[in-house]
Amino acid sequence: MKFRFCSQTSLIVAILVIFHPNLFAAETDFPGERLLLDFGWKFYLGNPWGDVLSLGKAGENRGPARSDFSDADWQTVNLPHDWALELPFDRNADYNHGFKPVGPGYPANDVAWYRRTFELPATDAGKRLRLEFDGVYRNCDVFVNDWFVGHHDDGYDSFRCDITAVAQPGGKNVIAVKVDASQFEGWFYEGAGIYRHVWLETANPLAVAPDGIFVCSKFKNNLPQGAAQITVEAALLNLQTNPAEAMVTCEIVSPEGKLVARFHKSDQVESMAQKTVRLAGKVFLPVLWSPESPKLYHLNTTVQSGGRTVDRQETEFGIRTIAFDPNQGFLLNGKHYEIKGTCNHQDAAGVGVAVPDALQYFRIAKLKEMGCNAYRTSHNAPTPELLQACDRLGMLVLDENRLFGTDAANLDRLKGQIRRDRNHPSVFAWSLGNEEWKAQDTATGAAIVRTMQNLAHSLDSTRPCTMAVNSGSYGDFGIFSALDVKGFNYHFESMDAYHAAFPAANILGTEQASTIGTRGIYTNDESLGYVSAYDDRNPRWGCSAKEWWSYFATRPWASGGFDWTGFDYRGEPTPYQWPCINSHFGILDTCGFPKDNFWYYQSWWTTNVVLHLLPHWNWPGREGQDIDVRALSNCREVELFLNGQSLGRQTMKRDSELKWKVKYAPGVLSAKGYTDGRLAAETKVETTGEPAAIQLEPDRKNIQAGGGDISVITVSVRDAQNRIVPVAGNLIHFHLAGPGKILGVGNGDPSCHEPDTFVPKTNLRVIPENHGWHYKTLSAVASPQLSELQPDFDDAGWEKVDAEANADSLKVPQQAVFRTKFSVTAGDLKAESVQLKIGRIDDRGWVYINGKLVGESHDWASSPAFEIKPLLHAGENTLAVAVINDDGSGGLGNGVALRILEKADAPKWQRSVFNGLAQIIVQSVAEPGEIKLTATADGLAAAAAVIQSEESKSQKMAPAL
Ligand code: GAL
Repeated sequence: MKFRFCSQTSLIVAILVIFHPNLFAAETDFPGERLLLDFGWKFYLGNPWGDVLSLGKAGENRGPARSDFSDADWQTVNLPHDWALELPFDRNADYNHGFKPVGPGYPANDVAWYRRTFELPATDAGKRLRLEFDGVYRNCDVFVNDWFVGHHDDGYDSFRCDITAVAQPGGKNVIAVKVDASQFEGWFYEGAGIYRHVWLETANPLAVAPDGIFVCSKFKNNLPQGAAQITVEAALLNLQTNPAEAMVTCEIVSPEGKLVARFHKSDQVESMAQKTVRLAGKVFLPVLWSPESPKLYHLNTTVQSGGRTVDRQETEFGIRTIAFDPNQGFLLNGKHYEIKGTCNHQDAAGVGVAVPDALQYFRIAKLKEMGCNAYRTSHNAPTPELLQACDRLGMLVLDENRLFGTDAANLDRLKGQIRRDRNHPSVFAWSLGNEEWKAQDTATGAAIVRTMQNLAHSLDSTRPCTMAVNSGSYGDFGIFSALDVKGFNYHFESMDAYHAAFPAANILGTEQASTIGTRGIYTNDESLGYVSAYDDRNPRWGCSAKEWWSYFATRPWASGGFDWTGFDYRGEPTPYQWPCINSHFGILDTCGFPKDNFWYYQSWWTTNVVLHLLPHWNWPGREGQDIDVRALSNCREVELFLNGQSLGRQTMKRDSELKWKVKYAPGVLSAKGYTDGRLAAETKVETTGEPAAIQLEPDRKNIQAGGGDISVITVSVRDAQNRIVPVAGNLIHFHLAGPGKILGVGNGDPSCHEPDTFVPKTNLRVIPENHGWHYKTLSAVASPQLSELQPDFDDAGWEKVDAEANADSLKVPQQAVFRTKFSVTAGDLKAESVQLKIGRIDDRGWVYINGKLVGESHDWASSPAFEIKPLLHAGENTLAVAVINDDGSGGLGNGVALRILEKADAPKWQRSVFNGLAQIIVQSVAEPGEIKLTATADGLAAAAAVIQSEESKSQKMAPAL
């Protein structure tokens, strides 16, 4: 009897809930919830299950897609996760993708499975439940509780799967995701796996639609004077069977935390329909957002219906104006604003594309230190946390789309990207694509751009579109004829003529430079794969930092532009191939350690007084030979000294550098910078002694527990006088104690093949249990009370069966119990886990250890594994399996084994420093406490760093099972 424990009143409520789903929610306010689902996933690289999707009968999917599939022996991972990073380098793999053996030609490494079990509270009944994936590389199928719930191809967009119908409120739920990275999208490292966050969203049937809030500010004549007009579009989704009246209330809270505006509007939303409610308000004396002053407002949107709060959303936004002008270039808040930008791919040392949120902030802060004020998300939709970091730290963003075209799927993706990102004040324009060679100069290209651009305008009337074009011939044809803002990739030599011929055109340098260099290296060495960092080398299409920047700096109509690239990235090892595994284009290396060009840009992109000398001054064996010395500085004059002797004073030309030829002698190379005749800066480089000690410097000494927070630790090798040894290459060993883990290591060396991450090695003993089996067919085996399943049952008279042979002892529709005994020692039971793996149970089976059920199998083709340690005792144990054969021949067979997993040896983390520096990323775990990292190396004094991991205040997690 279903309602046998219900009182009469609760019975009535329960019946009403069934017939009036809206009434259930009426009991309390529920403003919606978004929980992080990053932790406690199971991962398996490979897909021995083939195509698991059942098209014939819905929900009958196979292998890991089934909720009763056992993943006990899979690796445990947290998201974000990039399995390509964990693979060794392979010189036969694609160089543009960083020589990682994944993608075309590597079928064994291309497909992987992720599974996650979680509980839903019973109170989620009647709510809308969605999984939100911020990004999966790539081509994935998502299953929940056996049911197929979504497919997504593209590797860079966010997508959602509605799981309302198949979820089990009040019970266990299983997500299974098959990811197929066999196809490349780009020509750079793209990683593999669920490499961004996953969220569980719970909403009322009447609520704001996904990405349904759009807030923007406008001023009269687009000039930031007087009050800001705020418009809010709130798209409400009503999935109830009745129409509903909804009241939307908007509250705007200023950067100082004061309520500065409140407005509301009611509207009727039809059943099963979406309705956009448009609201308007004003903010008087607004504080403007800019990279220099990234002040953020908060919009709190509350939706009420039937006297209840059904949704509440908080949206960060900024008040600012943007415009392009053919003569004044880019305008921010009504004034010319020079874009001092960098293009960037998303991967970083130690983590690949699985970048933790705090590392986004770390990287954006490094770019800002250089004076960079704009970031191009080349060549794909960014992760939402990157945009959040840009909003909060102050960095403009050119938000780029990956795939170019007007097919429905692509337009949908563009729409999703714009709807997701359009509240970010950092985003100043949409880039529709990059260097689409087939389209750039053609009428078809123009037509595609018009279609995409019109769609973008319809979703966001506040931002223009551009596109990165490198055709070299620019005119009123092809893509340029259609674009709002003409994006020049390289070819700045054509810009003056273009500007003269098309004086009404808005222009932006979408990609420039492509200077190559290796941090701390001052000679080219093809065999080692190093390029000198003097900024003298670039590919055929590129130029030096000085060339492009001095051009743009004097032409405000060109708006400024984006250097290729801010950071080195994996793949594209131009100008070499193997042994180089990453690019040399960065102004900073993959760890974020600056190359010398960093100070060139800092000189001309900031108002700081800058004086930097290169190269280092450790050149034993080159005494008396000329060394090319350069000063990067914004001082008016610079005087150079060697060991106190002046080598001359030179005047700096704007956007330039100074050069000397200096006969090498060890000691001190120093410089004084003068502006307006006064000493403005001093610097020196010294010949160091031998490596003597290690130093560890965390970027943050306090991090939060539980949410995947990190500290980025700089490792340096120092001489006896505590100076970084610029040629040191010592191998450093790391040991971590306390509640934390090491996430990854790096050193910025483009030719280093040491691993970035050390996956714990499984310590596995496999003990075959194929002998001593007996079986007997019975009329019904499905009852756990069956005496034949009990440990003391005497099966001596049953038929013998070899469990290593094929599972074919039963015919249709026979049922049988299969039994054996096996022994384990007290030592075996000390292992982390003891699993039972059965090659095949054909078709269905219930597995009992010592009379207790440990699990079921309903997929004849899978090899189920069960955790059995809790049911074992030292000595003899009984294993009994009840099997029902539904189809063809069946039974139990194909090999049975115990798998004893000893505690994995903690991986031995290590990394060589490259030219004196390396990086190690330490991550918090669920428990707070003190994390201590120790670094040791042969012949060097050891170092330690302490990081406090503090109780987390903010992030809400979905409970794991
Ligand atoms: C550009 C391209 C970039 C990168 C760069 C290297 O043409 O847009 O993705 O390949 O060249 O210089």
